[in-house]
Amino acid sequence: MSETKDTLSITDNRTGKTYEVDITDETIKAMDLRQIKVNEDDFGMMTYDPAFTNTAACRSSITYIDGEAGILQHRGYTIEELCEHSTYLEVAYLLIFGELPTEPQLERWTYDITHHTFVHEDIKTMLEGFRYDSHPMGMLLSTVGAMSTYYPQANKIDNPFERYMAAIRLIAKMPTLAAFSYRHSLGLPYIYPDNDLSYAGNFLGMMRKMTELKYEPDPRLERALDVLFILHADHEQNCSTSSVRAVGSSQVDPYSAVAAGVAALYGPLHGGANEAVLRMLRRIEKVENIPDFLKGVKNRDEKLMGFGHRVYKNYDPRARIIKKHVDEVLDVVGLDNPLVAIASELEKQALDDEFFTERKLYPNVDFYSGLIYEALGIPNEMFTVIFAIPRTSGWVAQWMEMNGDSEQKIARPRQIYTGARDLTYVPIADREGEEKITGPPATRPIKSRRGA
Ligand code: ACO
Repeated sequence: MSETKDTLSITDNRTGKTYEVDITDETIKAMDLRQIKVNEDDFGMMTYDPAFTNTAACRSSITYIDGEAGILQHRGYTIEELCEHSTYLEVAYLLIFGELPTEPQLERWTYDITHHTFVHEDIKTMLEGFRYDSHPMGMLLSTVGAMSTYYPQANKIDNPFERYMAAIRLIAKMPTLAAFSYRHSLGLPYIYPDNDLSYAGNFLGMMRKMTELKYEPDPRLERALDVLFILHADHEQNCSTSSVRAVGSSQVDPYSAVAAGVAALYGPLHGGANEAVLRMLRRIEKVENIPDFLKGVKNRDEKLMGFGHRVYKNYDPRARIIKKHVDEVLDVVGLDNPLVAIASELEKQALDDEFFTERKLYPNVDFYSGLIYEALGIPNEMFTVIFAIPRTSGWVAQWMEMNGDSEQKIARPRQIYTGARDLTYVPIADREGEEKITGPPATRPIKSRRGA
């Protein structure tokens, strides 16, 4: 009877040598391949994995995703249960501390966050420097980065108190920075936080308050927004979280690391997708145009935004939860939005089409989140900004985990060098060629572009 071992045998057919490497957690260590060489002075074998589609870069106990089964859990709790029973701040606590809070712990956490929502008055001056039509995500990116200059002690990343304060300040001030960016882009006065309101209610107030003495959010809208916040709080090693970890691995302060996450989230294939969904729905214009639009998608002229996911090859569980809130929000605001009819028909036709089902392309959370924001009267440019607010707790939790992980070092991928070598330098007067600058290398055409 053959004995099984948790190892992998690799035969290098160039040399005929066989190597045995350990398998742990269904994974081999890429560094174990380095011993595979043809000659003693070779660098050794590496793996090539553009976009890290099959490389685990860390161990993490924060978020579990089973993309095939459509499962999402934070610290062991299903997203469905968290959305049903928790508030966003409770989930933020869970992500950061690893356990659900007791009542006094949640009270303290909520108090601390609520009492750090104000930003330094200079931030307003900084915002004044932006053009009137600046994208609020660009303003958020800059102001979050600037926070490191207001709290320079945050660079003591090994100090537990400073880490706690950075977590509190980031989570507390992100809605204020987001709302200020929005008000600036509309030329409206900034609204200061109201500490009597809930986290989501306060954000709605800072966005919407006009002449009323006290803003009172509709509890159904407040809850819908809070659920959206829960749904966006963390999603393991996505593009922005990996950016926070990579930048944070240089031991920079957490504000700068989180600013890297905001920058990554800005991209249309990541946080910008819900904005792109709304643009797409507007372009489709009416239900009758859907078949032609889908024909274009299948011809690879463009993507069906809000469909597909790098990890979920089944229905995104977050999409299922949020879908339930779309009608409720529309009922509250009393809006009969034609885009909703286009979205639901588009979803139906795509799910009936082999092109999408064969590729396991289902609606993701962004297909619906944009519709809720639209119903709340929030302009498209703010969608990604609103995504950044709850994702901050995930970024902070992942940043903390990374800093406590003794296996982590400064992030530094390898490359396969494909350029020229050992050229002879030609003095500028002797160089021949085009008179014009021919331009930088072109980006890849949309048809060959892959998302991250
Ligand atoms: N519309 C049309 N075709 C698509 C789409 C789409 N939205 N998404 C993927 N495909 C096709 C690809 O062209 C590819 O087809 P092929 O194998 O015939 O070449 C196949 O499906 C597999 O797609 P990949 O690009 O390999 O999938 P990947 O996992 O790399 O991309 C991504 C995931 C970026 C999310 C992609 O599905 C996409 O661009 N979707 C639209 C943007 C979007 O909604 N992003 C939000 C993601 S969720 C979030 O960030 C919160």
